[in-house]
Amino acid sequence: MKKIIMLGPPGAGKGTQADMVAGKLGIPKISTGDILRQAVKDGTELGRKAKAIMDSGGLVSDDIVVGIVRERLAQPDCTMGFLLDGFPRTVAQAEMLEKISTHAGGAFKVIDVAVEDQAIVQRLSSRRVCKSCARTFNVISNAPKTEGVCDGCGGSLILRDDDRPETVAQRLAVFHKQTAPLIDFYKSRGVYQKVDGSGGVEEVQRRIAALL
Ligand code: AP5
Repeated sequence: MKKIIMLGPPGAGKGTQADMVAGKLGIPKISTGDILRQAVKDGTELGRKAKAIMDSGGLVSDDIVVGIVRERLAQPDCTMGFLLDGFPRTVAQAEMLEKISTHAGGAFKVIDVAVEDQAIVQRLSSRRVCKSCARTFNVISNAPKTEGVCDGCGGSLILRDDDRPETVAQRLAVFHKQTAPLIDFYKSRGVYQKVDGSGGVEEVQRRIAALL
């Protein structure tokens, strides 16, 4: 049973690493950001509520995201483990997670992908995502074969609405105020491990693999 939490600032590479780790371990990756963006794309009530908050760089309410995770963890593919990407993001979410994940045995492993703010601003301004399949690219570190076109499905690559510089600054401020306290929360439980998220994707992947 593997239960992993991928912690770290916006744009640290959590999603990139989470895909690789979850793929290798054969467990589902649960990204609250991906679920919320899908809801926005589908125009659901949840999506309508979340869009303005996400575009402003703020956090969607704890009750809403915990509800999403509770529902997802009840799916049969989570019985052998799961990786949480971008959740929890507040101490209140972490406390609620402890209550809703008791059905799955074993302790969480918490991997904090640490990257300096300056590098994050650069990574996010150069990130592009596929409008159709949501695959992530980076015009500097992971460019698509054809500019503006997804290698996987041929869809158009766009800048995420919340990757504009002013929104990135707000997301970083929110991270330092509301999410960074989780470091002490998980240290106190003896499950916190920090990974240097600088350097190439493969290099960071090797550091994470060594911890797991
Ligand atoms: P979410 O989607 O979770 O955004 P985030 O945490 O800000 O993380 P990102 O997806 O921006 O970055 P990442 O760390 O996954 O980096 P990536 O791998 O893409 O959340 C979005 C919004 O939803 C939130 O702001 C909030 O409003 C809401 N939300 C979500 N969860 C919530 C929750 N629990 N509670 C409340 N609200 C919630 O990499 C970034 C770029 O860098 C890419 O271009 C990538 O190719 C590149 N890259 C990756 N690794 C490297 C490397 N080693 N070297 C160079 N480039 C790299």
